[in-house]
Amino acid sequence: MTSLAITRPDDWHLHLRDGDLMAAVLPDTVRRFARAIVMPNLAPPVTTAKAAASYRNRVLALLPAESDFQPLMTLYLTDDTGPRDITEAVDSGLVFAVKLYPAGATTHSDAGVTDLSRCHDALAVMAEAGLPLLVHGEVTDPEVDIFDREKQFIERILAPLVDTLPSLKIVFEHVTTADAVDFVTSSRAGVAATITPQHILLNRNDLFEGGLRPHRFCLPVLKAERHRQAVLEAAVSGDPRFFLGTDSAPHPKSRKESDCGCAGIYSAHAGIELYAEAFADAGRLDRLEAFASHHGADFYDLPRNRGRVTLIEDPWRVPDRIEVPGGESIVPFRAGRTIRWRLDRS
Ligand code: DOR
Ligand code: ZN
Repeated sequence: MTSLAITRPDDWHLHLRDGDLMAAVLPDTVRRFARAIVMPNLAPPVTTAKAAASYRNRVLALLPAESDFQPLMTLYLTDDTGPRDITEAVDSGLVFAVKLYPAGATTHSDAGVTDLSRCHDALAVMAEAGLPLLVHGEVTDPEVDIFDREKQFIERILAPLVDTLPSLKIVFEHVTTADAVDFVTSSRAGVAATITPQHILLNRNDLFEGGLRPHRFCLPVLKAERHRQAVLEAAVSGDPRFFLGTDSAPHPKSRKESDCGCAGIYSAHAGIELYAEAFADAGRLDRLEAFASHHGADFYDLPRNRGRVTLIEDPWRVPDRIEVPGGESIVPFRAGRTIRWRLDRS
């Protein structure tokens, strides 16, 4: 059996939710990752250092006693976020980034930003403090085709922002297009991107494989094959500007299989294994460690992890469901099918 030992990875983009849902999903992340950037799109959103500290305590309360997992908290940017909110976040020592959701772009983004110029002062303080801005890079203009929303975001919002605040650290989250990859690789220093497993393993045909597949629906939506290939190439390129962010986003099965199904794919149950499969298929397993365990920590100016995990090429069947206390369940990525790599339990 082929095996691969790597430095323990981190997940630089994760939705942990809250309450029963968090209790159901947190063990999957903790088994694999040493740290995770925890998204703030709760309802109501995490907009202050105080709310981030309280959310962090709820995460810590659900960790097994022996766990050294570190939740790295984020703030949710709104039109009303001011310099003081940022200073308090930095001073707390618990907030590692601020997330920009354009209002209406995705799940729980109603309180997001309607006009980025309203946030200029807050962003300037972030640039000064070295606090990264994490960007959901899609325009919300209903006139724009859903497959073009990332490209339009680059032109209308991101490129001007990168120039206006030349020292602001920016992570272009879950990039899905060749355009986004090109933008990041040709950008100034301080601009990086996360890549999800679904955007390197699936293309938009997979949304309709034999019928409508709600559990493969996420935002940004899956793209055409040429874009999948461009994003995969970026992931396996060894370029330190690209790093792992699962965007694991659990929703109850009933909310996905619905007249108006939620966006989000749950992948934390195989949060490193899915990447191992994609890297192995691309013949670039040798570059998995840097992508999963080095580049993100370096970008965030955090130490690389000391521990190691071992991956083994040994196919396993993903369960059909993950039960949530209280009666709901989650349908995980690849439910009922095989993943070729698994985490060594020893
Ligand atoms: O598919 C998604 N789900 N994309 C997002 O941006 C948000 C996420 C969620 O919170 O469910
Ligand atoms: Zn997300």
